[in-house]
Amino acid sequence: MKITGKTKIVGLFGYPVTHSLSPLIHNAAFEKAGLNFIYLAFPVKSSNLGEATRAIKALEMVGVNVTIPHKQKIIQYLDELSPEANVVGAINTVVNREGKLAGYNTDGEGFAESLREKSFSLKGKHILLLGAGGAALAISFSLLKEKPESLILTNRTLSRAKDISKKLASSRGEVKMEIVEFERRNSLPRAKEIDLLINTTSLGMQEGHPAPINLEQFSSSLFVYDVIYNRETELLNQAKRLGMRYQGGLDMLIFQAALSFEIWTGRKAPVDEMREALMR
Ligand SMILES: NC(=O)c1ccc[n+]([C@@H]2O[C@H](COP(=O)([O-])OP(=O)(O)OC[C@H]3O[C@@H](n4cnc5c(N)ncnc54)[C@H](OP(=O)(O)O)[C@@H]3O)[C@@H](O)[C@H]2O)c1
Repeated sequence: MKITGKTKIVGLFGYPVTHSLSPLIHNAAFEKAGLNFIYLAFPVKSSNLGEATRAIKALEMVGVNVTIPHKQKIIQYLDELSPEANVVGAINTVVNREGKLAGYNTDGEGFAESLREKSFSLKGKHILLLGAGGAALAISFSLLKEKPESLILTNRTLSRAKDISKKLASSRGEVKMEIVEFERRNSLPRAKEIDLLINTTSLGMQEGHPAPINLEQFSSSLFVYDVIYNRETELLNQAKRLGMRYQGGLDMLIFQAALSFEIWTGRKAPVDEMREALMR
């Protein structure tokens, strides 16, 4: 990478940021695309978030990714939001369009794109989604657009699943939505009908975490998607043992990054190079 007077800056705002893999993924993508862009991680403390966001305009940066703990709080400093970001109430991408900052959330679409790549269509499917945090809301907003038959939500704190259901009320169309108490997740009455199980809880992120649900109640044709990407979880091990199709969170991570790249550059992202950089 050759840095010149014309090099454009993209960044990551979060705290901490030193562990982030985003600089590796995005710099590999810029290089492959022949773009004179550089991606840098900025450790932005909460008390400096307003100033840092104004600096995107002042320094004529292309944009930033936003991570913990700023995904919600940064919204107050932006000029506009995409429809997803509006419903989800959290963003992971900001683009600077001639001095106006627009916020996007690419998590849900990254999830949907990773399933398209596997030729798994969500249309007409029965889906069970575990968890009701930020990832759950972004993913459910995107998957409703693909017109599944039904979506069952369950979460340890039931009120959060109810909140998601309320936020999605105007985007659900004909999709049947149901909320099930977390205690009932291992004996669901119509378990055999479910086509896709998505884990968006953080249960599984650490060594020794159990699977968040027992997969034996489902049909062997179930597709198991765990959005956790830092390790192969007990849930995925169970799916493997039962001969089910399964997927971990790395592809979602790559596709949400690819969508950010496309928002900043207006060009198709070199997904294979981004995946390769992440694996390296
Ligand atoms: N692959 C990707 O690109 C990608 C993108 C975003 C997030 N993720 C992953 O998705 C996961 C969730 O992220 P998030 O941003 O949605 O987090 P979040 O907003 O903090 O939500 C965490 C969720 O996990 C549940 N949970 C936590 N501990 C639990 C336990 N012991 N038993 C049952 N449920 C538990 C929480 O339930 P309560 O509501 O009851 O607390 C909540 O539903 C993380 O592992 C994150 O790394 C992956």
